[in-house]
Amino acid sequence: APRPGLDRIAAMDWPQLQEAVADCRACKLCEGRKNTVFGVGHERAHWMIVGEAPGQQEDQQGEPFVGQAGKLLDSMLRSLGLSRAEGPPERQVFIANTLKCRPPGNRNPEPEELAQCEPFLQRQIALVQPRIILAMGRFAVQSLLRSNEPIGRLRGRVHEYQGVPLVVTYHPAYLLRNLVDKARAWEDLCLALDTLERRGP
Ligand code: URA
Repeated sequence: APRPGLDRIAAMDWPQLQEAVADCRACKLCEGRKNTVFGVGHERAHWMIVGEAPGQQEDQQGEPFVGQAGKLLDSMLRSLGLSRAEGPPERQVFIANTLKCRPPGNRNPEPEELAQCEPFLQRQIALVQPRIILAMGRFAVQSLLRSNEPIGRLRGRVHEYQGVPLVVTYHPAYLLRNLVDKARAWEDLCLALDTLERRGP
């Protein structure tokens, strides 16, 4: 079955969207996947964190950021007092990816795959109504900001997605190999927290 049309996705509630993602066969990534990875967290979390695509462990477990990069992400979130699993909404994050299925061998997402999958992320954001979005890495940025600028040029200031403030930072898998930029990512998280707190309840 092809993916439901944009109008149908835009009218879906949370369970319908979960089912549509689980059933999606709109691109060739469905052939190699074990699981789709919808995302995890509170349905009304104040934070929306957007990564790239599931890796091997995420595909196995059906949950985002459970591998090495996820451990780093979780420790960064913990340092801010945030959690994917517990706490009041203002301390909770919803973690989603730009692609819901794993590209083979963790290759980069292809434009057709991004185009097919984007409406799911857009609907997730519309339903969660986050107060702040953290876009990690170039594919999340391309999808949400329609920008091909490198992360280094976009980070350090507050952008906007559909009226929601959006902060750009490096992808945690990249940070595992580039320790220098870890300090910058930490600054980005602090900028996001600051932005959220300045906007008030
Ligand atoms: N990298 C991502 O972008 N997403 C995951 O879920 C895991 C690794």
